[in-house]
Amino acid sequence: MCGIVGFTGTIDAREFLLDGLSRLEYRGYDSAGIALVQSDEASELGIIRVKGKIADLREAVAESDLSGNCGIGHTRWATHGIPSEANAHPHRDCSGSIAVVHNGIIENYAQLRSELIAKGHEFLSQTDTEVVAHLIEELYSGDLLAAVRATTAQLSGSFALAVLHASYPDTIVVTRNDSPLVLGSYENGALVASDIPAIIEYTRDVIYIGDRDMAVLHSDGTIDCYDATGVAFAPKTHHVQWDLESAQRGGYPDFMLKEINEQPRVIRDTLAGRFDSATGELVFDELPLTAEELAAIDRIYIVACGTSYHAGLIGKSIIEAWARVPVEVEVASEFRYRNPIITPGTLVLAITQSGETADTLEAVRLARKAGAHVIAMTNVVGSRITQEAQTVLYIKANLEIAVAATKSFLAQVALLTLLALHIAQQRGMLSKEQVSEIYAEMQMLPEQIEWILANSDQIERCAQECVDATTALFIGRGVGATTCFEGALKLKEISYLHAEAFPAGEIKHGPIALIDTEKGTPVIAVATQSMTREKTLSNIEEVLARGAKVVAIATLGDERIHEMTNLVITIPPISEFLSPITASVPLQLFARAIAIARGCDVDQPRNLAKSVTVE
Ligand code: M6R
Repeated sequence: MCGIVGFTGTIDAREFLLDGLSRLEYRGYDSAGIALVQSDEASELGIIRVKGKIADLREAVAESDLSGNCGIGHTRWATHGIPSEANAHPHRDCSGSIAVVHNGIIENYAQLRSELIAKGHEFLSQTDTEVVAHLIEELYSGDLLAAVRATTAQLSGSFALAVLHASYPDTIVVTRNDSPLVLGSYENGALVASDIPAIIEYTRDVIYIGDRDMAVLHSDGTIDCYDATGVAFAPKTHHVQWDLESAQRGGYPDFMLKEINEQPRVIRDTLAGRFDSATGELVFDELPLTAEELAAIDRIYIVACGTSYHAGLIGKSIIEAWARVPVEVEVASEFRYRNPIITPGTLVLAITQSGETADTLEAVRLARKAGAHVIAMTNVVGSRITQEAQTVLYIKANLEIAVAATKSFLAQVALLTLLALHIAQQRGMLSKEQVSEIYAEMQMLPEQIEWILANSDQIERCAQECVDATTALFIGRGVGATTCFEGALKLKEISYLHAEAFPAGEIKHGPIALIDTEKGTPVIAVATQSMTREKTLSNIEEVLARGAKVVAIATLGDERIHEMTNLVITIPPISEFLSPITASVPLQLFARAIAIARGCDVDQPRNLAKSVTVE
């Protein structure tokens, strides 16, 4: 989605704006621009916009004489209007003295636009955003904060806005509704951005404002916050633990590979401190639910989107197997539009890496309204979901930059596995011995992932055999099937190779017709140790008999699989419910290798955004 940055301070704003926008490139965008209050006291703001990349914007800025200590910037991911310079932000009013950057969608923009045109305003773009600049102009009578407040009162939809006015050379006014904004300050001034990576180099103490709250950033670094009615309040500061290195590639060719390689550490961090060997119990201090309350749960809904949804599917299998509670996993955009059955015994678990996914947030609001206890599982401290849910469980993935989720997925699955153990133990379904045995096995996971990473040449070899395919099928059973759903998503989102995943038993009920004998359609089969391994091997025989090129993910030492196919990726032995954590790693590397061979940008796949903050 779009990215916002803003800086007002005692030094030139250009570098912060351009660097900040570069750090938000991962969100996905098609055009970019900045606006500055010019140092020469001009009544018009200086604006430079380009269709294309931040490098193009940087070049255009370098060639201009634009400079100033107060400015805003934006990366646009087109919603209303094609990607073009005219549609790129910042947008301005008729006089050129007001500039606005916006994330979100103004739902009533068409009506506002007609009204403003009738009043003589001239529009230069096809965007919904431009109405905001003209509306502020219309409502401005010497008080910028009041004009922005009066403007947002007329807006419906989602917005994060940063506003600049030539008459306020050291001030930025910001506000938001259903779209994230993060504020902070350091010795040279005050900062605003749509995402933490843009400001983490300058401060780790950040402020979030609520829906329709407003903030005024001053060049001395002070930030004044007001609620929607104009009453001032003292904001709460959140300390972000993420390290600066997470925002840098650190010698890796892309963030995706870096983040895949961080996974052993992520799993170690996830496990650390979660088991008390003295009591033989899991440690979930964040969870306010007592053993009695956990025992009283009769249904769990997991709501999430994309990769987080896939983590939820794996969580379902494990929670049901160990804790014996029925779990329903729902895509958040579906859950929110139906009337889910929520009773006093219902627990809702919302999973979202970013904590800002619009559909997941709405699903949480619906569940809370219906009286459910909502647990949020997220990676981002202070994100929107942490303010909506009663309980927050943080995954320990650190900042994830690549659009394709990898380490956050593994962290989600590992934390779900621990949560399943905890619920099972509290409900009396697993003994202390069983829990400590499983936890001890989980401690082997980081080393196993390291082994897989060190032996990635086998994955590369298999990937090269599939580079020219037009479709790929993924099959597995049980948690192997859900691991496949994520493997197929990774492949299609970064390599643009069509991929679908099926429970292996389903393949002969339709998908097997997709196998092209001539071309040898790739079938990626997760055939690791499991209760149903024999059945999966039979399914592999079936697709081989129809000419498929089978790439098998199998357990080290499994001789039978080598007799069936010469495209085998081996992983160390682990019990079935822990296998998604290791089996997912070769699937991530497989997808990446194919994407690289096909010349794709793995960190910023086309049409995709890191967090989907619009519905
Ligand atoms: O931030 P969230 O976990 O809520 O994001 C959900 C999806 O948008 C996200 O997982 C998406 O599917 C990723 N691109 C997958 O790699």
